[in-house]
Amino acid sequence: MLNIATMGTSKITHAFIEATEALDEAKVVAVFSRKENTARSLANKYGIKTIYTDLTVLLADPNIHCVYIATPNVLHFEHVMACLREGKHVICEKPIFLTSQEWDLAYAEADRRGLYLFEAMRHLHTPNFTRLKESLKEVGDVSSVYLHRIRYSSKYDAFLQGQISNVFSKEAGGGALRDLGVYPLSLSLAIFGVPRSTSYHPVLLDNQVDGSGVMVLNYNGFNCVIMVSKIATSYNNGEIHGQKGTITVDNPAPIKKIKLHSGGKMKDVGIEESLPNMSYQIKNFIHIMNERDHELYHYYREISKQVTRIIEQY
Ligand SMILES: NC(=O)c1ccc[n+]([C@@H]2O[C@H](COP(=O)([O-])OP(=O)(O)OC[C@H]3O[C@@H](n4cnc5c(N)ncnc54)[C@H](OP(=O)(O)O)[C@@H]3O)[C@@H](O)[C@H]2O)c1
Repeated sequence: MLNIATMGTSKITHAFIEATEALDEAKVVAVFSRKENTARSLANKYGIKTIYTDLTVLLADPNIHCVYIATPNVLHFEHVMACLREGKHVICEKPIFLTSQEWDLAYAEADRRGLYLFEAMRHLHTPNFTRLKESLKEVGDVSSVYLHRIRYSSKYDAFLQGQISNVFSKEAGGGALRDLGVYPLSLSLAIFGVPRSTSYHPVLLDNQVDGSGVMVLNYNGFNCVIMVSKIATSYNNGEIHGQKGTITVDNPAPIKKIKLHSGGKMKDVGIEESLPNMSYQIKNFIHIMNERDHELYHYYREISKQVTRIIEQY
């Protein structure tokens, strides 16, 4: 059983705890918040006994094996390093780090201590991701790809009134590319590998953060165009165009609907997944730790490294 403590108390931490509740092999045993009331109310909601408001005290608890970090992006490095130095494995929310230098230092620290450090790119661990990848062989040579993550942020109205939340703050590591673009970007890297070159064309808001933007990944023989926005909503699918057919995919994260169009016919390739979307990554992380599956570990690590290398440029 992997005993996990959580850091951060927003919606995504609730989803993470619910995802562990669906599994036998992991349990959230403690929650951390800077405020006792917030920690208590999160813990009570899920029947968790232990709360912490002092990170040093949490990290000294030998009952905790792993920390799930869902704090603002700009704090990930500080929080990850603190956990690793006290001998805890770490699952950190995307984007794990804002620079390659942070990425290299943190993974060197994890390796030196024999600890695992995972980036929570939940969409790359799901059955529908595997189906999407497998269905590629049906479309032949790929000639173009369009992926997107375009969703009006619940925090944009407040931004327009002058209240800048972390996702709309450049200083906090926010913006459309870092908050949303990492989903289609990592999906493309996981399916097609590292592009030959990249470019990003942001639309900047008044505070110079990217509210939306277009990224172009140039591969040998095709481009993958990624459109991201936190200030509008899309109702279209992403598409992978091949010589023998086209795959449509509703969303990079979570992937719910995948359709294969070929020879004038359409086939549903996606399935109704049985577990909460975030459970699959936790299952995979535990598999990697228990089986010492370093091939799989390095597959995800490399995607994480390349995503960090790309986003730090823009
Ligand atoms: N995978 C997904 O689908 C998904 C979805 C949403 C977000 N995320 C990721 O989750 C992370 C958090 O995003 P968010 O939008 O929830 O961020 P947020 O609301 O700005 O902050 C999240 C939490 O961080 C804690 N926090 C803030 N400042 C802190 C500090 N100085 N020290 C320690 N804790 C601090 C706060 O908890 P307390 O006030 O209780 O301490 C807060 O609830 C980001 O990396 C984001 O990209 C992932």
